[in-house]
Parts: sequence; structure tokens; C-alpha cells
Amino acid sequence: MHKYEKLWLSVGTASLALFLIILIITGLHNGHKPAASGRAYVNSDKVEQIEPFNKPGLHKVYGKDYDYELVIVASAFNYQPGKIEIPKGSKVKIIATSKDTLHGFSLPGTNVNMMLEPGHISEYSKTFNHKGEYLIICNEYCGVGHADMKSMIKVVD
Ligand code: CUA
Repeated sequence: MHKYEKLWLSVGTASLALFLIILIITGLHNGHKPAASGRAYVNSDKVEQIEPFNKPGLHKVYGKDYDYELVIVASAFNYQPGKIEIPKGSKVKIIATSKDTLHGFSLPGTNVNMMLEPGHISEYSKTFNHKGEYLIICNEYCGVGHADMKSMIKVVD
């Protein structure tokens, strides 16, 4: 019995130490990481100054496995840019974040359904093969204007 107790005590201590080490490493990592390079985190207070969110909109890219980046900044209760036109057949990488609170970015009838958390960058790639209009809706409750938080993607020839 005594042996097992000792064993469990050391396992417990080791896990605790490991946990603390992970916490410290994660803390240091976040603190020192330049916000824009990793594309996983972004300082939500300075979204407008940080690439790519300083230029919301559709941007042609070259040498990647997609044709455009669509940069979206959500805030209560709208999306930037307001109007989006995408040439039919384009593969688009949607890169989005929120400036204030939790929002959604959903295109009903498609697979696009993201949560936009302040401080985090959400990404999703989609090829728009069909001409038409896609409604963008916020599907996370975000306050009094939630129900009106909508936008539109127009896929054009
Ligand atoms: Cu934004 Cu609900």
C-alpha cells in the first residue's frame, strides 16, 4: 500500500509541475508573440492597426492554394467591409476576428459557420462556384442589435 501511495504522490506532483510549466510557457509565448505573424491570436484592442485587419475586404493573393483573402472585422453590430463581391469560381480564404464581443459568421446553406472571438483569428476556405447572393448572419447572441447583424456576399461573373 505504501509503495502505491508514494507512486501516486509523485505522479500527482509531476502532473502539477508539468501543468505549471505549460502555463508558464503559454504565458510567455502569448506575451512575446507578434500579434499578426501567427494568425491565431490578435490584440482585439488594436485590430484596426494590425495586418491583415487594417484592410478589411477582398484581396487577391498570388502563389497560394487559394485566390483571395477575405478579411472580415466584426463588431457590434456589423461586419467590415459592408459590401463584398467575389468573382465566381474563386477559392477564398476567409480570415476574421471580432473587435469587441463574441460574434458569429455564418453563410446559411453553406459549410461556413464560424465563431468570431475577440483576440482570436478564425479562418475558413471556400470556393464560390455559384453566382448569387449569400447572406452573412451572426449566429452568436451579441446584444441588442444581434438580430440585425447581417451582411451579404455577392458572387459575380
Ligand atoms: Cu453579432 Cu450576434
